[in-house]
Amino acid sequence: MPRKIIIDTDPGQDDAVAILLALGSPDDLEVLGITAVAGNVPLPLTQKNARIVCELAGKSDVKVFAGCDAPLQRKLVTAEHVHGKTGLDGPKMDDPTMPLQDQHGVDFIIETLRSEAEGTVTLCPLGPLTNIALAMQEAPDIVGRIQEIVLMGGGYFEGGNITPTAEFNIFVDPEAAAIVFKSGVPLTVMPLDVTHKALTTKPRIQAFRDMGTQVGDMVAAWTDFFERFDMEKYGSEGAPLHDPCVIAYLIRPDLFDGRHINVEIETDSPLTLGMTVADYWRVTDRAPNAMFMQDVDADGFYALLTARLATL
Ligand code: RIB
Ligand code: CA
Repeated sequence: MPRKIIIDTDPGQDDAVAILLALGSPDDLEVLGITAVAGNVPLPLTQKNARIVCELAGKSDVKVFAGCDAPLQRKLVTAEHVHGKTGLDGPKMDDPTMPLQDQHGVDFIIETLRSEAEGTVTLCPLGPLTNIALAMQEAPDIVGRIQEIVLMGGGYFEGGNITPTAEFNIFVDPEAAAIVFKSGVPLTVMPLDVTHKALTTKPRIQAFRDMGTQVGDMVAAWTDFFERFDMEKYGSEGAPLHDPCVIAYLIRPDLFDGRHINVEIETDSPLTLGMTVADYWRVTDRAPNAMFMQDVDADGFYALLTARLATL
């Protein structure tokens, strides 16, 4: 029975690959809907990009919703320096023709969690947590109905990527992240600690190109564009495919390893705003609230990703 998921996303090249992995895995995952959030680029672009990706996958029947266009309390910070002006820079893309749903993304999340059987829907946030937190604030009754939240965000041993201590998704809306991390919902986190071990390399990008499909060519072009930021910054031989780690975990959890610990969010200090304060060595008596991933079988991850993308 495929697992029911809602993908909450701010595409972003890595979000796009994550969405393709999910849509290429219908035996494992049933995508109930995709809710766009402001993050890498503003909402008008993230909702448009989500539809572009669905059409690229040949799945224009997927319901795509626009969610929040700004964090709960702060001004939006975007990441065009990483993703380009469109959020999906790299290849040339046509505008989507599939419709955007009229319903607000937050209302879709609430309505779906209320109508699906309790404990059967997993939320997969790939961007700032604004939509998820607002849904919890507006409808506290849904919190106990969520099967699990598997998100990309945070970092501990790796530090941050938008400030020395904060990862982008958490930094953009730290108040939203604090609500989600305090919610008590079973939480699995893919921080930079693990996503920085899932690097694109020339052979891995070539494997996308060798598919000889439009999907393979687009993913190769996106990863080619996306990697320059990380290679300049980290001197790494490729870019971390952050968001696909969330989807890969749902299909093959055995590819990942981590520790169930307490993770809290800094929401006050200007110096460390958005930091995921991970009690990795359990030096406090704060209750564990998150499976905080640290390791991934990178070859296994790319083998899964390439195999599933090739089906589209
Ligand atoms: O820090 C990486 C995260 O921020 C990824 O989700 C990327 O898409 C951006 O949203
Ligand atoms: Ca993202």
